[in-house]
Amino acid sequence: MFTSTLLNWFALNGRDLPWRHTRDPYAIWLSEIILQQTRIQQGMDYWLRFMKRWPRVEDLAAATEDEVLKEWQGLGYYSRARNLHTAAQQVLKLGGFPTTLEGLLSLKGVGDYTAAAIGSIAFGLPVAVVDGNVYRVLARHYGIDTPINTTQGKHLFTELAQSLLPSDRPAEFNQAMMDFGAIQCTPTSPKCVVCPLQESCEALRMGRIDDLPIKEKKLTIKTRNLTYVYIRCKGKTAIRRRPAGDIWQGLWEPYNAGIRHEEVGTFSSAEPMRNCTLVCRNVKHVLTHRILLADFYLLEADTFPTLPDEYIWVDENDLDQYAVPRLIEILLERLPR
Ligand code: ADE
Repeated sequence: MFTSTLLNWFALNGRDLPWRHTRDPYAIWLSEIILQQTRIQQGMDYWLRFMKRWPRVEDLAAATEDEVLKEWQGLGYYSRARNLHTAAQQVLKLGGFPTTLEGLLSLKGVGDYTAAAIGSIAFGLPVAVVDGNVYRVLARHYGIDTPINTTQGKHLFTELAQSLLPSDRPAEFNQAMMDFGAIQCTPTSPKCVVCPLQESCEALRMGRIDDLPIKEKKLTIKTRNLTYVYIRCKGKTAIRRRPAGDIWQGLWEPYNAGIRHEEVGTFSSAEPMRNCTLVCRNVKHVLTHRILLADFYLLEADTFPTLPDEYIWVDENDLDQYAVPRLIEILLERLPR
């Protein structure tokens, strides 16, 4: 049902794109690489210019890298252009465009998606493409909650797309999925009221069109820089208890300069903050949600510097009475005695 409805929709609504009038793998490959980088309208302009200047893969292979980069200018991500040039030369060495999936995958810059697209469109290989459109259309129509950016999700959607692909019409099916996702089942404001698949669409039935597909939020591990100054004055050192609402709540730490090491110079040149020496730099400490990079200084002062109220002066010999985070323990171990 899904497949036949989709193909009927494509026959009526499919876009007339210049690379759809050819089976030339070079032209199709070029269109796919360009379309990974830009939208259809702009991609068309680039594709036409490339095809006019280098009508065959031999022509592109014979160009200089600079010429290719220049023609690619404005699309960004220039490694794609370099790969394009390299792959054209690979094709020449192979004596022609590879006609198998494995052969296509051996070309520089050709991954699963591009290999499936070229393989199906140029050679009729029965391989389903899986791109953002495919994830969206399938997640919605079948009401699938599995996040698309997980290994499990990738397998599930790839297998589902593959099971829906009619092996005698792979080129049509794959391009129908692309167009359906781009025109009908769009990321925002999909045209559900005029959708030919509305009756079988699970997401529409459940009112979950806007929730699907699901993308798992990846934890971004941020790096946080810390600068500590161990102040030594008359056998005492300054520490404070870590405040609430941050890491290490309730544990103790030496003077937290709260600034990057570049600024410590300013700090240390102020009287009586002389003799500030670097103990160690960029000490890496990994927490669950954060990577800490700490710089540690030693300041030997003759008179007690004025510090914020939360600091207390403790006898250096009593420091081991205070609970400190593991990172601070590591820093203290580096301190010259
Ligand atoms: N986006 C990427 N490849 C495409 C194709 N062949 N047709 C339409 N849109 C696309």
